[in-house]
Amino acid sequence: MEKEIYFDNSATTPVYREVADLMHETMIRNFGNPSSLHKKGIQAEQGVNHARKILAAALEVKPEEIYFTSGGTESNNMAIKGICLANKSRGNHIITSNVEHPSVLNVYDHMEELGFRVSFLHVQENGVVDADELKELLCHDTLLVSLMHVNNESGAIQPIQEVGEILKDYHKKVYYHVDTVQSFGKLPVLPDKWGIDMLSVSGHKLHGSKGSGVLYLRKGTRIKALVEGGGQEKRLRSGTENVPGIVGLGKAVELAMKDREEHVKKMAAIRETLASRIKEQVPDCKINSNFDDTGAPHILNISFPGIKSEVLLHYLEQDGIYVSSGSACSARKGKLSHVLTAMHLTDEEMEGSIRFSFSYMNELEEVVPVAESVGKAVRELQQLTGRG
Ligand SMILES: Cc1ncc(COP(=O)(O)O)c(C=O)c1O
Repeated sequence: MEKEIYFDNSATTPVYREVADLMHETMIRNFGNPSSLHKKGIQAEQGVNHARKILAAALEVKPEEIYFTSGGTESNNMAIKGICLANKSRGNHIITSNVEHPSVLNVYDHMEELGFRVSFLHVQENGVVDADELKELLCHDTLLVSLMHVNNESGAIQPIQEVGEILKDYHKKVYYHVDTVQSFGKLPVLPDKWGIDMLSVSGHKLHGSKGSGVLYLRKGTRIKALVEGGGQEKRLRSGTENVPGIVGLGKAVELAMKDREEHVKKMAAIRETLASRIKEQVPDCKINSNFDDTGAPHILNISFPGIKSEVLLHYLEQDGIYVSSGSACSARKGKLSHVLTAMHLTDEEMEGSIRFSFSYMNELEEVVPVAESVGKAVRELQQLTGRG
């Protein structure tokens, strides 16, 4: 079989070998229930607590502020619904942006039914919100600001620290939630220093397993539990802990943090080289990701005018190259991306948009075959549609 090139790491990543080995060992040997009083239970509990310490160290917070969940979607739901339901009397206004992940945006329909009012920050053409607009939207009723750190479709980095400063200076307490599913393990993420009260992490985006995640909850922040039961995770997330997933997440984070800067340099070089090689192959393509300090090192979104991205995706697949059309979460729904719409792309640019996303496991040598394959496919497709 020819070599496969996986450039879809924002959809999910392969699990580290060390993580898979540790999870396997946990499943067959250290399989206890952390609530059991005997040795097997205590061993499992120790594994969970060890992972909690690793997560806390990576985020520079206290271990008791780390809650394990099933992933980014659950953490986002737990934070937004949890804070609103527990603090209704303090305000009913939520501020967010119009480029959030569906696991944030779709929660607001439910919150609006419950009487909350939601305001959306707009993004500029580079996909970044304007922090000054936030100052205009804040009002006496504002309870929560929820923003993503890195956008999963464009790779745009939001001014998370600046927003934290604005909220610190505001005369009334406003809770601050940040979705760091696409940034944690790659960019610095410092919730305590940046004034963040709640923060979401997902294991499978950083070489951990699917079904593992974290909600950081600043000590003293009151949220309502969404799942009632045996009272695990200090009563905020009942259900027997996913011990293999949790210990695996701990290991994945340990490995990601150890070589973080080196990995970032490698991914940034791959991204930059791929962008310029593709531009040589397809001069009329449009690069939708940023190459200044508002662009994440691992996401490259490019529009190929006159091409349908799904068709191009399957062409590339025939050469063993895996990419995404728009975001994997919305790619199958058949409507134009809300993120690219917010960035004012034309319909044609959106229809022809491809996301390439990298991990440290990719190599610079993979760039040339991908760029050549893209060039060949685009020329063929443009000829078929009479554009070539
Ligand atoms: C920015 C962002 N938030 C949340 C999620 C959901 O995370 P999970 O797949 O762990 O539920 C994703 C997944 O793509 C994402 O990109």
